[in-house]
Amino acid sequence: MVKHFTAANLRQCKEAGEKLCWLTAYDAPSAQIAEAAGVDVLLVGDSLGMTLLGFDSTIHVTLEMMAHHAAAVVRGRQRAWVVVDLPFGSYQGSPEQAFASAVTLLQQTGCDAVKLEGGAAMVETVRFLSARGLAVVAHLGLLPQSIKQLGDYRRQATDGATATRLLDDAEALAGAGALALVLESIPHDLAAAVTARIAIPTIGIGAGTGCDGQVLVWHDLLGLSLRNPPFAPQFSDLRSQAEAAIGRWCGAVRQGEFPPVS
Ligand code: KIV
Repeated sequence: MVKHFTAANLRQCKEAGEKLCWLTAYDAPSAQIAEAAGVDVLLVGDSLGMTLLGFDSTIHVTLEMMAHHAAAVVRGRQRAWVVVDLPFGSYQGSPEQAFASAVTLLQQTGCDAVKLEGGAAMVETVRFLSARGLAVVAHLGLLPQSIKQLGDYRRQATDGATATRLLDDAEALAGAGALALVLESIPHDLAAAVTARIAIPTIGIGAGTGCDGQVLVWHDLLGLSLRNPPFAPQFSDLRSQAEAAIGRWCGAVRQGEFPPVS
C-alpha cells in the first residue's frame, strides 16, 4: 500500500493489475475508518444528499453542501486521494462554470480531484479542466444527476447502440484527460470491454469484476441504508447494531441504571 496515494498511483495500479478500493466518505471519522481499513480513494459523493441529508435524489445537493462535507473528509484523511463530486447544476452550464466550481472545491476543502457525470457532452469540460491542471474523474452509465430525464435508476447501456456510445464516450473522456472513470450499473461484459479499451482505471459500481477497481457507498456497505441497490451488498449490519445499542441505553435510563452510581 502506498504512503500517500496520488493521481500517478491510479495508472500504476492499473498497469500492475492491482485492484483499487474506492469508498464514499462524508465526514472525518468515516475518512479515518476507511483509511485504516485500507481504502485508496475517498469519494465525497453527492450521494450524501440521500444517505445523510434525507433528500430523494442528488438533484438538491449544492456546492456549499459538498464543500462542507469534503473539508471534513480532508481533515480526517492522511493518505488517501480525495475525490469530490461536482453537484448538479455546478458544472453542466459551461467549461468555465465547471472550472469555477472545481476551484471552489479545491481551495475551500483541500481535496485532490473532482468528479463529474456525463459522456460526449462533458468531453470539452474534462479537456478544459485537465488542460488547466485539475485532476478530473469521469462517470458513465447510470447518472443519478439525470434522474429527472431517466425516470428511474435502472441499468444503462443494455443494447448495442447505447453500449457502443458508452465505449466511444469512455475513450473520448480518457482522451480528454480524465484520470479515472466510474462505471455505474452497466452490463458486466461492457464494463470489461471499456476496461480493456482505455488506459485509465475503471471503477465499477454495479459493473462487475472486470473493472480496475470498485466503489461502494459507505451506508450501503456497512448496512446503514434502509434499502440497498441490488448491486451493492452489505458487508455489515450497523443500522441494527446501532438500534440495539441505543435501545439498551434507553432501557438503562428508564430503569434508573444510567448513569451508573460513582
Ligand atoms: O455519489 C456517489 O456516491 C457516487 C458513487 C455512487 C460512484 O457517485
